[in-house]
Amino acid sequence: MELLEGLQTRKSIRAYKPEAVPRELLTRILEAACWSPSWGNTQSWEAVVVAGGVVPRLTADLVAAVEQKEAPNPDVPMPAGFPDAQQHRYMACAAGLFGTMGIAREDKARRKAHMLNMTRAFGAPVIIYVLFSADLQVPYTMFDLGAITHGICLAAHAQGLGTCIEAQLALYPDLVRRHVPIPEGRKIVIGIALGYPDPEAPANAFRTEREPLEKWATWVD
Ligand SMILES: Cc1cc2nc3c(=O)[nH]c(=O)nc-3n(C[C@H](O)[C@H](O)[C@H](O)COP(=O)(O)O)c2cc1C
Repeated sequence: MELLEGLQTRKSIRAYKPEAVPRELLTRILEAACWSPSWGNTQSWEAVVVAGGVVPRLTADLVAAVEQKEAPNPDVPMPAGFPDAQQHRYMACAAGLFGTMGIAREDKARRKAHMLNMTRAFGAPVIIYVLFSADLQVPYTMFDLGAITHGICLAAHAQGLGTCIEAQLALYPDLVRRHVPIPEGRKIVIGIALGYPDPEAPANAFRTEREPLEKWATWVD
């Protein structure tokens, strides 16, 4: 896949086939993604690849926490809100996804089912948790972690796999630690659902939009 085409055709995948992803393929993806840039080549990222029976056991506990309305306790604080422009795009994204899935605004039951499905990593057979050491300074470390996260998503896409970056999977890090050996002193920033996309699922027909260039880029020459 040509690089620009890959950048423009990657999108979040929110329904997966149950097929396992071969370890060699996952290895190839991570080995490609680690060529992402980082501050002074510090490579501050770490990853834990969760697959097999651990995924359903972990996500069952995460779903139970959501259902019981347990207070999230993420290792990295999550945004409490956005300024108007970002809030508008955020709402448009949710409305677009629910519209494509045929979920009405007032259909609380299906919205909740979607939220629980998100907590199940949309049925993905693999979750990659991206971690960093607690002794790193957060702001620019996030820059590096974002770069490798996108690298993983692009490399997966180039191999015919789908991904969805999910803050939802990082809401209850203590539960994750119960199922996954997260090394001491590491913080969990995000989970990436990964697997073979289900082409029939309505959710996967959704495509987000982007602002036109003149809205966010300025030229000086
Ligand atoms: C930091 C971050 C957290 C995200 N968390 C979630 C999530 O919890 N659930 C979800 O369905 N999508 C999540 N996404 C995916 C975004 O909604 C998606 O990337 C965005 O709408 C753009 O759409 P695209 O990925 O299809 O281009 C997250 C993305 C990022 C970068």
